[in-house]
Amino acid sequence: MPEVAAWADHTLTDNASAGGLLLSGHTGTGKTHQAYGALRRIAAGGPDKFELIAVNSADMYGSLRPTQVLGAAERELRRLCEVQYLLLDDLGTAKTSEWTEEITYRLINYRYNHCLPTIITSNLPARDDAGPDLTDFVGARVASRLAEMVTTLVPMIGDDRRRGGRAA
Ligand SMILES: Nc1ncnc2c1ncn2[C@@H]1O[C@H](COP(=O)(O)OP(=O)(O)OP(=O)(O)O)[C@@H](O)[C@H]1O
Ligand SMILES: [Mg+2]
Repeated sequence: MPEVAAWADHTLTDNASAGGLLLSGHTGTGKTHQAYGALRRIAAGGPDKFELIAVNSADMYGSLRPTQVLGAAERELRRLCEVQYLLLDDLGTAKTSEWTEEITYRLINYRYNHCLPTIITSNLPARDDAGPDLTDFVGARVASRLAEMVTTLVPMIGDDRRRGGRAA
């Protein structure tokens, strides 16, 4: 998609101002496919060496649960905060709690403050006054940071490609 390619190119020319790419839409519309497309484009046109982490948000919350190993979850969160490129796939799928909100806040706040390029996909619309939206999931403080950080918002439309639908 041209918007996705443009965002990837933006990160290559000016990493600090590229901010976030948010792909939102119903299941099977190709969000994850597009997100990896952006990463491939960065890999092809980008620096010889760069770090990226792609993580499913439900897995991320799972891996950040406090464990017996002292500091392991904190170290993992720091790794996700600091990595050069982060793909946070399927934000808004896990069940919310104060704890998930705090983790999301710490992660997004860090990446927002340090202008680190972040790709987010979500089944939830960025904004929907009539139903659940991303703000409901992440909370107002994260939503406010996302609103400023996301420079490219791509609503993915169409039917579920996994069911043979034709997505746009
Ligand atoms: N542009 C495309 N061309 C060909 N196949 C595609 C394209 N986009 C997506 N697909 C295929 O459609 C299926 C669904 O795509 P994808 O997993 O990216 O959807 P999604 O929006 O991330 O879904 P979910 O919300 O369930 O995570 C996958 O099998 C993927 O390979
Ligand atoms: Mg997906």
